[in-house]
Amino acid sequence: MAGMNSRLAFAIIASACWSAFQHGYNTGVLNAPQEVMSEWLQKEVLTGTNMSLAAKDDPKVTTVMSIAVAIYCVGGMIGGIISGVVADRFGRKGGLLWNNALVFVAALLEGLAKLANSAEMLILGRLVIGVNSGLNASLAPMYLAEISPVSLRGSIGTVYQLVITMTILLSQVLGLESVLGTPEGWPYLLAITAIPAFLQIVTLPVCPESPKFLLLNKGQELHAQRALNWLRGDVAVHGEMEEMHQEAEKNKISKKVTLRELFSNRQLRQPLLIAMVIMLAQQFSGINAVIFFSTDIFTRVKLTTSQSQYATLGMGAMNVVMTIISLLLVEVAGRKTLLLSGFAGMFVCSVGLVVAYMYAHISWVSYMCIALVILFVVMFAVGPGSIPWFLVTELFNQSARPAATSVAVTVNWTANFIIGLSFLQLSIALGANVFIIFAVLQLIFIFFIFFKVPETKNKTVEEITAMFRQQM
Ligand code: GLC
Repeated sequence: MAGMNSRLAFAIIASACWSAFQHGYNTGVLNAPQEVMSEWLQKEVLTGTNMSLAAKDDPKVTTVMSIAVAIYCVGGMIGGIISGVVADRFGRKGGLLWNNALVFVAALLEGLAKLANSAEMLILGRLVIGVNSGLNASLAPMYLAEISPVSLRGSIGTVYQLVITMTILLSQVLGLESVLGTPEGWPYLLAITAIPAFLQIVTLPVCPESPKFLLLNKGQELHAQRALNWLRGDVAVHGEMEEMHQEAEKNKISKKVTLRELFSNRQLRQPLLIAMVIMLAQQFSGINAVIFFSTDIFTRVKLTTSQSQYATLGMGAMNVVMTIISLLLVEVAGRKTLLLSGFAGMFVCSVGLVVAYMYAHISWVSYMCIALVILFVVMFAVGPGSIPWFLVTELFNQSARPAATSVAVTVNWTANFIIGLSFLQLSIALGANVFIIFAVLQLIFIFFIFFKVPETKNKTVEEITAMFRQQM
């Protein structure tokens, strides 16, 4: 790929890979070992529970487990909210580095919860790692967008989601009973999250701070140029420096945008609306209903538990493969086309699932249901999975980017929280018809994207923001 070099690749790994690891791994990690952890809670932590019930049916146990799962998203919202301030105060690289302190705290709390017989430690650890993930979801895509050459911004931005999909899969494999999903193994399974934090601390300091942050926020011309030289492996960076200077000129007039201005400034209203809706669309597409509850969904179409677990792994693997393909497609087909194709595909799968479930007693139809669930995830990976993370960073210039990303990421985690909390109840009440709700939402998002989202492929941030100005 033109524009790619080994240093840039190193910076991508050092920043986004270790950060997205936290986001993906901790999204998936409580999935597989739910049962052994529930047994621990029932037998050793929660007194007064009804031991005649199986741990997974014991209401006290399930409440604590659901809190441990859901509080991760609450942490994500908090991380999202504070990320704008962190990005401005510590920088993108600085913020990412400091954020690792939270990982070590969380790993200790979660890893020692069993030894201390404490559900509180487990829950607090999940909250802390959630805050870390919320911050990552903002800081890492921002850093990536600001170090990328324009022609690779989409592909490089996709790396964040690619690593999420890989580490969700990793957490599910490591959580298998034959690996770490055992009564002795689960504390290690949770504490593993400290390893990428350690790797980030030793690799990221080698990389420069975002050149845009150095020039536009700090006014450090020389440092910015050196950073760019390092990242491009080239001394000739005049073109990009010139572009940044132009943006700096404009920034002098518009200074740093606060949250209040973000909502009141008419010029920013349209891109902000797009940023928020695109995040809602990613989550309300229903993706995590499938990611979290696929094993449950598969058993309902009469697969055995172990068959369902393998089908879930297959689904995770397809998510990774398709995200790789979208990384290659995004600079060719563009963001808008991939978003539209992805959501349209998800819509077809959702409708297909509702219909097929009615005939799931016929054996070939039940296999079709499984295929449709997997295809649903594949279509998500075409675009709706990866594009929202970096599209938001593309819609705003330097002065508004942190505040806007912060709002968008908070919206994402809030929507994620709502789905996590409500899907199980909804699916008990509605069965497969819950996919009708997703289908309707997907359709609305398709219309919104078609009419409102501009194509940002191969455009500089200046050109993109100018587009919104002209529209006004
Ligand atoms: C996106 C979503 C995340 C989901 C993942 C699945 O990153 O934000 O919530 O679990 O995709 O691939």
